[in-house]
Amino acid sequence: MKIAVLGTGYVGLSTGVCLSEVGHHVICIDIDDQKINRLRQGISPIYEPGLEDLLTKNTAAGNLQFTTSHQEGIENAEVIIIAVGTPQRNDGAADLSYLLQAAKDVSAHLKPDSIVVIKSTVPVGTNDYVKSIITNHTKKPFKMVSNPEFLRQGSAIKDTMKADRIIIGSEDKEAALKIQEMYRPLNVPILMTNVRSAEMIKYASNAFLATKISFINEIANLCEAVGANIIDVANGMGKDKRIGEAFLQAGIGYGGSCFPKDVKALLHTAGLHGVDFSLLRETIAINDEQQKLLFTKACSRLKQLKDKKIAMLGLSFKPETDDMREAPSIKIAHLLHEAEAKVVAYDPVAKDNAKKILGDTIEYASSVDQAIENADAVFIVTEWNEFKQLDLTEVTKHMKQPIIFDGRNCFEENKIRACSKIEYYPVGKPAI
Ligand code: UGA
Repeated sequence: MKIAVLGTGYVGLSTGVCLSEVGHHVICIDIDDQKINRLRQGISPIYEPGLEDLLTKNTAAGNLQFTTSHQEGIENAEVIIIAVGTPQRNDGAADLSYLLQAAKDVSAHLKPDSIVVIKSTVPVGTNDYVKSIITNHTKKPFKMVSNPEFLRQGSAIKDTMKADRIIIGSEDKEAALKIQEMYRPLNVPILMTNVRSAEMIKYASNAFLATKISFINEIANLCEAVGANIIDVANGMGKDKRIGEAFLQAGIGYGGSCFPKDVKALLHTAGLHGVDFSLLRETIAINDEQQKLLFTKACSRLKQLKDKKIAMLGLSFKPETDDMREAPSIKIAHLLHEAEAKVVAYDPVAKDNAKKILGDTIEYASSVDQAIENADAVFIVTEWNEFKQLDLTEVTKHMKQPIIFDGRNCFEENKIRACSKIEYYPVGKPAI
């Protein structure tokens, strides 16, 4: 199948690369010519395990191409997948300006009877709106399909190739069957719905997962108060198949480009329709508080943070990505900066992106050793494998005070206890 993908962000690029891998002819379009040039050379603009290998392989095989020309990309495509960003507006709603521009670009070069697929995360009703825009800009016949994406950063390729489900929302049976055909080589469950249900499935899924995280974080805080252990509690809860084991890891709150924005956008949509979705307001409020957890604990333990050296291990919103969007590290760094602490941070890959947001409010180390040297406390902010494997005796030896605030529960209890000097504060478990 000849497929054009508009937008080479996480979703567009991963989708394009994976569809080329299963034998389709894919052309990815982006207005950023530097990005397109690098992609042509097999260089990925994002850190994503496995992506560059497939990029290089399929570009060389000739079934994956990149262009800045909408005409070149769209005019021969049977299927056009729109995967541009829908960032958050100040009022919490999704900003649809990139999407609307994409709709105009598509209508200018559309081949008759092609299928326009919206993969971007869009509020309910947006597919119909985009359809009306394209209809206003072209007389050529076309069909629309809503096909939201569920991949996670850091495991984008695996999540695309082995998706739990693919949602195909359309009022046009023929178009839906063609998109089903496009995904058939992936051999994963496919669910057909109407357009608005498909749009809603995406937001409902992200909002539910975010709420699950806020719920387990509140349970963790309660565990600390009553002397229970969140690891055992989450394990015991997760064994119930109705609850499920995933997304019960307590920590310092969710971040990233999706959960914070999508929960707010769903809340906004609910408001527009007169529905008071107060649960989502609480999900957001709990998350905002949880991101302050390490700071609050450090204040109560160290009393005065002024001129204390704090080593922040991890900056990205989660491991295996260099993405800093809405990362808890941002709020933590701001709070420490206001408290006049000296912050030295280390992250295996997110340093450059962090600098764009945090500038010189913190220092950036090029190794764990450099960050922890003479530190009054360590904050573990992102659960990178490199940190989980640290020798705690070695770490504490180089610190001024052997105090660790672990926001991601990175270590087994026996490993912590084997380190005689450590003072260790996890999330939702007794301190050691
Ligand atoms: C999320 C969803 O998981 C994807 O299904 C969805 O496609 C994507 O958003 C999107 O809408 O594009 P992502 O933001 O890449 O994916 O990352 P997740 O792995 O879901 O993690 C999000 C945040 O939740 C991270 O900050 C992570 O640390 C936190 N989290 C996750 C927890 O605090 N506890 C958990 O148990 C799981």
